Amino acid sequence: MESELFAKESICLSCTECNETYPVMELRYFCDCGGLLQVLHPLDSFKQLGPETFDARLTSRDPHDISGVWRFREVILDVAPGDMITQPEGRTRLYQRSRLSSFGDVEDLHLKHEGDNPTGSFKDRGMTCAITQANRLGMKIVGCASTGNTSAALASYAACAGMKALVFLPAGKVALGKIAQAVGYGATCLAIGGDFDEAMAMVRQMALDGDLYMVNSLNPFRLEGQKSVMWEMLQDLEWEAPDWVVVPGGNLGNTSAFGKALLEAYAVGWIQKLPRIATIQAEGANPFYQSYKRGFDELLPMQAETVATAVRIGNPVNYSKALKVIRETDGVVVQVSDSEIMAAKALIDGCGIGCEPASACSLAGVKTLRKQGVIKKSDKVVGVLTGHMLKDPDAILKNAAQTLYEIRSIEEVKGFLSSH
Ligand code: F0G
Repeated sequence: MESELFAKESICLSCTECNETYPVMELRYFCDCGGLLQVLHPLDSFKQLGPETFDARLTSRDPHDISGVWRFREVILDVAPGDMITQPEGRTRLYQRSRLSSFGDVEDLHLKHEGDNPTGSFKDRGMTCAITQANRLGMKIVGCASTGNTSAALASYAACAGMKALVFLPAGKVALGKIAQAVGYGATCLAIGGDFDEAMAMVRQMALDGDLYMVNSLNPFRLEGQKSVMWEMLQDLEWEAPDWVVVPGGNLGNTSAFGKALLEAYAVGWIQKLPRIATIQAEGANPFYQSYKRGFDELLPMQAETVATAVRIGNPVNYSKALKVIRETDGVVVQVSDSEIMAAKALIDGCGIGCEPASACSLAGVKTLRKQGVIKKSDKVVGVLTGHMLKDPDAILKNAAQTLYEIRSIEEVKGFLSSH
């Protein structure tokens, strides 16, 4: 059954499989049929808004207009400004560099850097929304499984809201910057022996048992917040939609959220063209790509391994939402190797922008899709960089022996300069 795009009357939770609906204030993560839930807004809410409303808010000093999420509040989560738990977040930049365009072999290439968010990743956009909803529901304990960034965002927003945060991390597989953030913001950090997928199963069970409010991207309010990446991008492109949006895929929350945002924007006439979504997976963590190659027959979970620890996920929870997005946006899924990821990262870093390894999937994916002739050289392409360079300092400093020079005197420096 085709899932709906708009609510019939007021905002509701709707099942993406059977279209059953539930009140937005009901505490539930799944439909009774087991399907994933999404938040639906009535078409009327969209009709009262448009690019002019959002553009007018760009010059406002109100923190709720400054936030790149709450600027779109009526069709994200319509709550009173006093109830919003906001930093504010968003307002991330679009970067263009001729060297990046040459590398990707695309003339009009933009990188939207979600590392510009308060905790350094796109997760802040979903978290402001999920923690706002947790607050409305009166939740005191919030939790997530995480490859790192969700835990940093959760820890930060829980601190803002005065909630207790519990994060489940795969031991030894989370980048240093992210753990430091979660600890520093004051979360209780639990390192589990298994991988992300096992951590996810634990949190899911605890949420269903009522021990905590789960804010992984299974939580539909997270994805409502993440829609704003796309709307802000469209706004910054003066509502001229790109041909392609290219995004890394792990748990597939972004793919799902971006698709929803673009389909909504297109359906209500904010944009005249529907961009195609390209989801890029790391070769060692590619269950979505494998399924795509087989015509999306089924998801076969796998043991994931990749240098891009953020996307080291073998059993993505948003699989069923994401595959609909790929179908409905005429999208594609490709894989890139660890060495292709690190080559793209080295260039992004070397351009003075910087990103964490998983984010570089986007640029590596653009290059691959150009080589395959899927993306045209003249296409307008936006790649999303999902996390900040400092999230994973080890990924840069692993080769530090070659790039950190020990110097004991000025003479040595002078000698060094003449030989380099
Ligand atoms: N890029 C980064 C930097 C991430 O942290 C993640 C996911 C992704 C890409 C994948 O996004 O799941 O929406 O497909 N990180 C999660 C975490 C799983 O726990 O921080 P997705």
